[in-house]
Amino acid sequence: MPKPLNLIVACAANRVIGRAGRLPFEIPEDKAWFHAQTAGTVVVLGRICYQTWPKVQADGRQPVVLTSDRALATPSVKVAGSVPEALALAQALPGDIMICGGQRIYEETLPLADRLLLTLVHADVPGDTWFPEWRHLDWRESWRKESADANYRYTFSVLERVR
Ligand SMILES: NC(=O)c1ccc[n+]([C@@H]2O[C@H](COP(=O)([O-])OP(=O)(O)OC[C@H]3O[C@@H](n4cnc5c(N)ncnc54)[C@H](OP(=O)(O)O)[C@@H]3O)[C@@H](O)[C@H]2O)c1
Repeated sequence: MPKPLNLIVACAANRVIGRAGRLPFEIPEDKAWFHAQTAGTVVVLGRICYQTWPKVQADGRQPVVLTSDRALATPSVKVAGSVPEALALAQALPGDIMICGGQRIYEETLPLADRLLLTLVHADVPGDTWFPEWRHLDWRESWRKESADANYRYTFSVLERVR
């Protein structure tokens, strides 16, 4: 039995997820949620996400990095040149699989996703990277929490794919 594929993302109302290599919003509660949900898991992520997250291996995370640069591989960092290769490596490692983006990886894996851990930020923000449209797919919401800080209102939800 393959392990389920979980995608985790914080997405603005206009589906923006990034700007100039960084998050397009600063939401401490979402950062804490992301770190807690990905601790001890196999994190599948693109090269830019990997290089901008120096502490990725803290808390027992095992990175599988999508890149054409095989030199990024180390004994504890797996490297894959395609999504199918990354998912095969992730399936072979112990621990839940968390797909952490960016854009192209989300686009290629959303059709395969079993669960979406979505933080929906209720604002349109400027940016240069997007999460693909997910609302046309069938999901069952298994958990939800509304929250806000001084700058944003946002909803955490866990969406289970209905097939
Ligand atoms: N809001 C969120 O939850 C969230 C989550 C993730 C990212 N982000 C934001 O998104 C931005 C980074 O994402 P990004 O999309 O620009 O970059 P990325 O996915 O982190 O990295 C892009 C690189 O990954 C490799 N890659 C991606 N897809 C591949 C594929 N299918 N096969 C082989 N290699 C592949 C390529 O590496 P090489 O060039 O080395 O070949 C590509 O240049 C940042 O602004 C970040 O903050 C936000």
